[in-house]
Formats: sequence, C-alpha cells, structure tokens
Amino acid sequence: MMGRVNSLLAILLVVSTTSLLSDLAYCEDPYVYQTWDVKYATLSPLGVPQQVITINGQFPGPKINCTSNNNIVVNVFNNLDEPLLLTWNGVQQRKNSWQEGTLGTNCPILPGTNYTYKFQVKDQIGSYYYYPTTPLHRAMGGYGPLAVHSRDLIPVPFDLPEDDYFVFVGDWYKKGHASLRKLLDGGRSLGRPDGVIINGKGSFGTGNKTGGEDSPMFTMIAKKTYRYRFCNVGMKDSVNVRIQGHTMKIVEIEGSHTVQNVYDSLDVHLGQCYSVLVTADQKPESDYYLVASTRFSKKALTSTAIIRYVGGGQVPPSPELPPAPVGLPWSINQFRSFRWNLTASAARPNPQGSYHYGKIDITRTIKFVLKPFSKVGGKRRYSINGVSHVDPETPLKLAEYYGVADKVFKYDMIKDQPSDSDLAAEVIVAPNVINGTFRNFVEIILENHDKSVQTFHVSGYSFFAVAVEPGRWTEEKRKNYNLIDAISKHTVQVYPNSWTAIMTTLDNAGMWNMRSMSLERQYLGEQIYVSVLSPNRSLRDEYNLPDTQLLCGIVKDMPKPPPYSS
Ligand SMILES: *[C@@H]1O[C@H](CO)[C@@H](O)[C@H](O)[C@H]1NC(C)=O
Ligand SMILES: *[C@@H]1O[C@H](CO)[C@@H](O)[C@H](O)[C@H]1NC(C)=O
Ligand SMILES: *[C@@H]1O[C@H](CO)[C@@H](O)[C@H](O)[C@H]1NC(C)=O
Ligand SMILES: *[C@@H]1O[C@H](CO)[C@@H](O)[C@H](O)[C@H]1NC(C)=O
Ligand SMILES: *[C@@H]1O[C@H](CO)[C@@H](O)[C@H](O)[C@H]1NC(C)=O
Ligand SMILES: *[C@@H]1O[C@H](CO)[C@@H](O)[C@H](O)[C@H]1NC(C)=O
Repeated sequence: MMGRVNSLLAILLVVSTTSLLSDLAYCEDPYVYQTWDVKYATLSPLGVPQQVITINGQFPGPKINCTSNNNIVVNVFNNLDEPLLLTWNGVQQRKNSWQEGTLGTNCPILPGTNYTYKFQVKDQIGSYYYYPTTPLHRAMGGYGPLAVHSRDLIPVPFDLPEDDYFVFVGDWYKKGHASLRKLLDGGRSLGRPDGVIINGKGSFGTGNKTGGEDSPMFTMIAKKTYRYRFCNVGMKDSVNVRIQGHTMKIVEIEGSHTVQNVYDSLDVHLGQCYSVLVTADQKPESDYYLVASTRFSKKALTSTAIIRYVGGGQVPPSPELPPAPVGLPWSINQFRSFRWNLTASAARPNPQGSYHYGKIDITRTIKFVLKPFSKVGGKRRYSINGVSHVDPETPLKLAEYYGVADKVFKYDMIKDQPSDSDLAAEVIVAPNVINGTFRNFVEIILENHDKSVQTFHVSGYSFFAVAVEPGRWTEEKRKNYNLIDAISKHTVQVYPNSWTAIMTTLDNAGMWNMRSMSLERQYLGEQIYVSVLSPNRSLRDEYNLPDTQLLCGIVKDMPKPPPYSS
C-alpha cells in the first residue's frame, strides 16, 4: 500500500516539477482503441471489379468516433504487398508530428508487419478522415471517417441531431493504382477520372443499375434533423453536393462552428469536410436523391445515393436531379459566405490568438506559387517556387532529430517571395523543406498560375483563410482580408489564376507537410515541408521520439539522440 502511495507521489512530483500540466491531461483522457487489418479486396465501385484497399473488410474504413482530447490508439496491420502509411487529415498532432503518417515524418509500415499510431485529438472538434499517404494508395481507397465530438460540458451550437452520417464523395478511376503510377512515372497525366463514388459506391439505385439494387444509403425519420458530414476524398475534382427537395444548414467546417447559413448545394473541394443539418421535412412516402457531381470540368461526372424516410419508399425519387451551380464566381461567393461563429463554444487548438488573429503582427510572408507542370528530363513535374519535392529514404523529421539533416536534405532551397525570373528557372527535383521559426505568425499566399482549381492542405495546424481573390497578390490586397470571422480550417481551395491568403501561428513544433490535395500534383512534387524546431529541444514544445517509432534509411542503426529536456 505504502509503496503504491509513494510511487503515486513520485509521479505527482515529476508532473509538478516538470509542470507538464497539459500533459497530465494527456495521461488521464479516455482512450479509444482500434485494431485494423489493412488489405486488398476486389470490389466494383463503378460496376467493374477492381482492387480496393479495405480496413477490417470495410470500404470506406471503420469510423473513429471520439471526443475532444481523447487518446486514439490504432494498431495497423499492413497486409498489403507494399509499405503503407496512414495520415489523419486535420488532426493537429500537437507536439507530435511523430504520428503524422507522411513520408517526410514516418518510415512506412512494411508489408506483413504492424505499427501502432498513438495520438490525442487535443482541443479539437469536428469532421475529419484518414487515408493512406504511400504513393497513390489513396486511388484504391483505404480511407475512413474520424469524428471528434465536444466534451459533455461544452455547449454545441445546435440541437443534438437524430443521427450523424459521413458522406465521402470523390472522383474515382477504374484503373488500379499500379497502372496509375505507371502513367505518372512515365511522364504522363492521370487523365480524367471515370466516375464519382459516394461512400465507396457508384450510382447505386438510380435506375442506372451501374452496380446495385435500389437500396437507400441513408434513412431519416420524418420531421427529425440529421447531420451529414460531407468530405471530398477524391483525387482530382471539386465536387458539388445537394439533396433533392431539402436544404442544408451549415454548422461546422473542418473543426470550426460556423454561422448557420442555409444552402441548396455546397462545393466541397479536395480534402475538405463540411457538416450540415438536414431536416426531413418533405413528403415521407417519397425517396430523394443525394447528388454528387464534379465541378469545373468539361463534362460533369455525377453520382447519386438514395435517402429514404423511415416507413417510406413508396414513391421512387424524381429522375430530375437538382442542377449543379455554374461557374467560378458562385463558388467564390460561397467561400466568402462561410463565417466563423465567434460566440459558439468549442475546443480550439490555439485559443490565445483565436479571436484576435487580425491584430497580430505578421512576422513572415511566404508566397507559394502553383504553376502548371514543368518538364524535367522529359517528364511532368509540379513544383512550389521552383522546387519539385521528392521524399528521401530517410524521413526528414528523423534526419533532423538524429542531427543528420545535412546528409538528407537542404533547408530553404526556395525563396519566400520568388520573382518572375526565379519562377522561370529550371525546376529542381529535391526534398523541399523550409525552416519555420517557432511561434512566428505567418501569412502564406497561395497563388495559382494554373487553369484548374487546386486545394492545399496544411498538416499540424489550422489556419485562418482570410481571402480568396482573382489575379495576383500584392501587399495592398491585405485591406481586403477578413480579419474578423474567417473560418479556421486546414484545407483551402485556390481558384484558377487567383490567390488565397491564410494566416497561422507556428506554435506546433514538428515537421509539417503542406500539400496539394490533387493526387497527381502531390505525387509529382507539389508539396513542401515546414520544419518548426523547438528552440531548445524542450518537452514543452515537442514529444520525444517514441520508443516504438519505426526507423529506416541512414538513422536505422544510429544511436538514439539524448531525449528532449523539460
Ligand atoms: C459517437 O460519440 C458520441 C459522443 O461521445 C456519442 O454520443 C455517439 O453515440 C457515438 N456514436 C457512435 C456511433 O458510437
Ligand atoms: C503489433 O501488434 C501486437 C499484437 O497486437 C502488439 O502487441 C504490438 O505492440 C504491435 N507492434 C507495434 C509495433 O505496434
Ligand atoms: C452562434 O452560436 C451561438 C451559441 O451557440 C448561437 O446561439 C447562435 O445562434 C449562432 N449564431 C449563428 C449566426 O449561427
Ligand atoms: C445515370 O447515368 C448517366 C450516365 O452516367 C448520368 O448522366 C445520370 O446522371 C445518371 N442518373 C442518375 C439518376 O444518377
Ligand atoms: C531555423 O531558423 C532559426 C531561427 O531563425 C535558426 O535559429 C535555426 O538555426 C534555423 N535552422 C536551420 C536548420 O536552418
Ligand atoms: C527554452 O526553454 C526555457 C525553459 O524550458 C524557456 O523559458 C525559454 O523561453 C526557451 N527558449 C526559447 C527560445 O523558447
């Protein structure tokens, strides 16, 4: 008994002397455990049998349902025939880029082995998803939902919905990832996707008979209200979503509670998630189509799923689908209509600056220019400010931690604000890493010089998306920023020949990937890492390399560096 009390005391002492108060919570918050079997299966998302990545036999994979600050432990068994990594889109991994699951942070899980991800959904709420980051695996699925609920004591700015549905929409190719990889490695493009799928299925039950029976994908009780969480898990195109006869009230975007506007349809760009409330206020005997169709492409690809009221289904859905909006201005206006609800409570990763981001002095402005592809050695490459990223065998984060970064990559090969002649120079293929200074408040301009809509994801952070405008960015454009109630999010669209401005405080030490969510552009180099170092290797800023971390490349047999101090 005595011994136990003593060791408890010892723990308390350690905790108080190191003042790891936030980390005390880390120890005490509830755990959510999952064990995943990742393997191939033959499925026919578009009516043609093909190889798909399933998790525990499911496509999309199992749902992680948790609450702010929960500890998530996922033991992943890689039963594919290739190395695998999964990332947790939008989960911030505070102090913990060790669990980010990108090739710049982690060694992949080898076939026939397992690795356990351990992370905390610290101070977050909202709708997220996970997916494989190993080359083009996302083209085979392997993705699934992750919902973070508010803690019991925190009021949510809407009534508890009757039920809660993830709706994964996205374009899809019938070719396997190996053929797709061959196309890209051979210097070609992926070309147009073959269709759109909704929760892993093509146009089921549309009378089109492309792959299934007329069974409903979603059910609603008349008069009740449901939460639909739309995520675009596709590879190339923005997708517009809408529901016959029903409006959608937006309540959450990528972890922020929004002003609750009502929309007939929503543009969901690659990698983004939007939560809406839908009330079953139409004729209960009828079925309704939920429609997902690609935007901004020459010929839209469309898919539908059926929503049925409980006890309904007597009247088939009207074959007349609600039309998609037309043109870019509609989409830009919709982006501008999204506002953060400043009075709604919710966990937020960086509450200090949250309400006042418009008043913080910018310490650094970085402009990332997204160009059309360049030819390097006769093959297509995409670049950021003249460098086209490749992943070295030794993950960047590990090289840095072990003190051998200079053997693996060079910091700051690109300029913060490249000139036209910098951009005209030959593209360099190399790891693209910039050094970010801990706690700097940065303004990042994403300038799209290409003809297609792009989306960009920032890992490790949420940022304020303060402006989206046509043309080129100049400092004078700052007067058009929304410095009051911009949405704090992690994935933002950049319209053709337009720019997007985002702002964030680099308060999360780690190695963080910023990437195009277009699979082809990302694979061919349109991504970058931002290294944010803890200035004095302090445990307050970043966790130590976990004992279980997989090692590879030149650090594989190196002695472990001394741990961070507290
Ligand atoms: C998910 O978690 C929330 C909050 O903890 C809970 O209310 C809900 O019932 C859970 N849903 C499922 C499907 O487990
Ligand atoms: C692999 O799975 C086993 C059995 O569940 C577990 O004990 C072990 O810790 C896992 N290994 C890793 C590296 O996660
Ligand atoms: C914002 O959230 C508050 C608090 O929950 C809620 O009362 C209010 O209706 C919301 N405002 C809007 C415009 O959605
Ligand atoms: C049926 O398939 C055609 C061709 O793919 C498509 O244009 C149409 O929108 C589909 N109809 C429905 C109701 O999904
Ligand atoms: C990164 O920047 C910080 C602060 O400007 C500097 O102290 C540090 O040496 C730089 N690190 C590298 C690897 O360039
Ligand atoms: C280094 O750590 C100490 C205490 O751990 C802290 O007070 C100091 O501010 C840190 N230095 C920097 C540059 O952050």
